[in-house]
Amino acid sequence: MADRTDTDLVETGFPEIDHQHQRLIDGLNHLIAGILTGENTAITLAAFDKICELWQNHCQSEEKVLESQGSPRVAVMKAEHDRILRRLEGFRRAFAEDPEVFRAGTDVGEIRRLAIRHFRQYDKVEFDGLRSST
Ligand SMILES: [Fe+2]
Ligand SMILES: [Fe+2]
Repeated sequence: MADRTDTDLVETGFPEIDHQHQRLIDGLNHLIAGILTGENTAITLAAFDKICELWQNHCQSEEKVLESQGSPRVAVMKAEHDRILRRLEGFRRAFAEDPEVFRAGTDVGEIRRLAIRHFRQYDKVEFDGLRSST
């Protein structure tokens, strides 16, 4: 199962952040399954909205934690968080425009990989750095 290999992505040492990462991964898996199985459009749009909301709330929490830990890279993290939110919103817009065209022409897995790459390339590096500097 893909989910099993994701466990290393939710070990930041901050339980609230780990929990949010897990919820995002679960939500993204659910969203993608809904798109691929041709679930009702309104339900998929609601799932997109939920992911965007979870993402924004998570990013705020994470930026607060990094600020409180004196991280010098909060601005870089924030810019990356915003960039990913815009990509998620772009996917949502394209899906809303025409779900069938979206299904046929989009690499749907990329919606999930966007977040996974961020967890791996930004969050993991940042939180590992915080832990080793204390
Ligand atoms: Fe992050
Ligand atoms: Fe994160």
